[in-house]
Amino acid sequence: MDRHPLQQSLSIVTRSSDLIGNTPLLELIRTRFGSRLLLKLEQFNPTGSAKIRIARQMLDEAEQQGLLKPGGWVIESTSGNTGMGLALLSAERGYRFTAVVDRHAAADKIRTMQAYGAEIMYVDTGDNDELATADREALAAKIAAEQGAYWTEQHNNPANGHAYRDVAEELQKVLGQEMTHLVGAVGTGGSLFGTARVLKTLLPALRVIGVEPHGSIAFGGPGAAYYQSGTGTPEGAEIGALVDYDLLDEGLKVSDRQAFNTSRYLARKFSLMTGGSAGGVIYQAIKRLEVAPPGSTLVVLVCDGGEKYLDTVFNDEWMDKRDLLDSGVERELDQLLEQITVSA
Ligand SMILES: Cc1ncc(COP(=O)(O)O)c(C=O)c1O
Repeated sequence: MDRHPLQQSLSIVTRSSDLIGNTPLLELIRTRFGSRLLLKLEQFNPTGSAKIRIARQMLDEAEQQGLLKPGGWVIESTSGNTGMGLALLSAERGYRFTAVVDRHAAADKIRTMQAYGAEIMYVDTGDNDELATADREALAAKIAAEQGAYWTEQHNNPANGHAYRDVAEELQKVLGQEMTHLVGAVGTGGSLFGTARVLKTLLPALRVIGVEPHGSIAFGGPGAAYYQSGTGTPEGAEIGALVDYDLLDEGLKVSDRQAFNTSRYLARKFSLMTGGSAGGVIYQAIKRLEVAPPGSTLVVLVCDGGEKYLDTVFNDEWMDKRDLLDSGVERELDQLLEQITVSA
């Protein structure tokens, strides 16, 4: 079978963190109208997500500003991906790292943080496995204030946005002027708006589409519980300072069912494991591909891979127990793909 030539030259690096960035672009779908859907696969970063980019940038800027000294203590409220990035970087740089988590966080993410030497602190939510972002943040803030840890505070840290200048540059290098739409999940807003801020100066016509879970409040209420992890703004939590409505052309909602059943569909149909929030973004991007002007190039920021969700999104029992299985999503996507990819 033909192999695609390597996009970048192979070289030797000396630290794990040198492997951050230059993530691949996968063309998932090309339509008969000459449009295409490209996925920026951030799971190819160390720790398997985009968030390690912000972990590095937040530590770099804190060091430059004198907020973090050698041997210092870092704390963050995290559903896992930011924590894994901070855990890897803290191990590399000799910091103590504490992750404040809730019972919603995937067990494997927690074990990974522990493997890098992180301390785990749970907020007290009893048996409830729903997101507890507001509680987590309050605890991280308290420990930082009372015990002197440096709270990276990803929701309000400009370094979170700065980290994605590299993503914009990587996309620009490959696609030049071709990109017409940028689609991404909105949690803190760092990835979508950090990337968009740079790209909009180069591509003024670029359409920026944000996706958040139904029940998240950044694009309007009402708030309700949801299971997509690492994304959205749950009721009670503050909308992050990085969410920049001026850069947003459209804010869309996606249900847990649409998101998770899309992730499951992508694994079977395209041999691609994506995380639950990424499934939701790709669901909306596929629907947009149908109505986008001919010749469009849509880029989706895929924040992480599916391997972290084997116990949830890819576990039939877990899905069934929460009434999340829905073969209708698969049928809908199949029909849509047939219409837009097969010549009439
Ligand atoms: C699982 C997950 N969902 C969503 C996002 C997008 O989050 P943010 O808006 O904070 O960049 C990320 C970022 O990497 C993520 O890891």
